[in-house]
Amino acid sequence: AFVITENCIKCKFTDCVDVCPVDCFHEGPNFLVIDPDECIDCTLCEPECPANAIFAEDELPEGQEHFAALNAELSKAWPVITEVKDSLPDADEWNGKAGKFAMLEK
Ligand code: SF4
Ligand code: F3S
Repeated sequence: AFVITENCIKCKFTDCVDVCPVDCFHEGPNFLVIDPDECIDCTLCEPECPANAIFAEDELPEGQEHFAALNAELSKAWPVITEVKDSLPDADEWNGKAGKFAMLEK
């Protein structure tokens, strides 16, 4: 499955949800996750993210491996999102900032 990682936090551009053929994105307050049980590895979402936050599960950046379990967990709790919406305020400023994992809202 594909996995959303730290740089989505506080950005949530949502461009990714537009291309998914199986609607497996789920939305939280300041982060999105992918349901690994639904993702068919089509790869379409990966290049759509302006924050480069989406990776194949076996290509996760060092230190972000834990996001695979987090996507699996939160996708069961959060509702599906299928339509693009405005990014979070100040998304451009937060894009690329380190230490955003501590700001994840559940
Ligand atoms: Fe959806 Fe394809 Fe991305 Fe999986 S890889 S989340 S199926 S767009
Ligand atoms: Fe997040 Fe990128 Fe989608 S910032 S909401 S994974 S387009």
